[in-house]
Amino acid sequence: MTIPETIAIDGPAASGKSTLGKRLADAFGYLFFDTGVMYRAITLVAGQKELDLRDEAGVSALAENTEIDVQNPSREDGRNCDILADGQDVTWQIRRPEVEANVSLVSSYQGVRQALTEQQRRIGLRGRVVMVGRDIGTVVLPEAQVKIYLDASAEERARRRCLELTLRGEPACYEEILAAMRERDRFDSTRQIAPLRPAEDAIILNSDGMDADQVFENTKIIVETRLSADHITDERS
Ligand code: CDP
Repeated sequence: MTIPETIAIDGPAASGKSTLGKRLADAFGYLFFDTGVMYRAITLVAGQKELDLRDEAGVSALAENTEIDVQNPSREDGRNCDILADGQDVTWQIRRPEVEANVSLVSSYQGVRQALTEQQRRIGLRGRVVMVGRDIGTVVLPEAQVKIYLDASAEERARRRCLELTLRGEPACYEEILAAMRERDRFDSTRQIAPLRPAEDAIILNSDGMDADQVFENTKIIVETRLSADHITDERS
């Protein structure tokens, strides 16, 4: 069976996009590319360099001049891959609360989005990729063959993020996580450029009450069905 060459997964914070994306990529032998890590890496480096995060031009220049790389994991500490910013391993640092609190502001800047979108599109157009983010189906790869918009209630998503942090041995307060997540979703979906929203041709999936296996199995069927439909249409035209 042929498999679609590009799969876009968008959705709000902690809706399970990365877990799903990684599993689909492994199942189809595709590259898994989580675009959120790029915005997080720029936010982290801006903080390390003590830039004023409200300085749009300064932060955008940083995004243009910082090389972000994703490589195979160099350690067995639960990571899927190594995230490097100008050669520095930032894999876990980009998950810190201070990055989480500022990443939406940084990613609302046009210069930052332009710099990162170009890199993402270049990788996406090579095909055989599962790309995950907020604007993949709408802006980065509008021609993706399959677009999934993965949603879940804010409460369910906050519970999942809490569990994720607890399993990593980090402090986690459900109420704080829920409030921060709602704020980030509000910011991401109301920004001027590339706001979080489903593409018109996206399949919307609500994962409330489903575990990771169920989300994966359902989506895998959707991806395969979409492909066969494309295949039949091609033959008729
Ligand atoms: O893992 P989680 O869903 O919490 O977040 P993420 O996917 O790592 O994305 C972190 C932040 O980066 C989001 O809240 C967005 O502000 C931004 N982002 C974006 O604007 N566009 C993308 N394609 C990916 C992430």
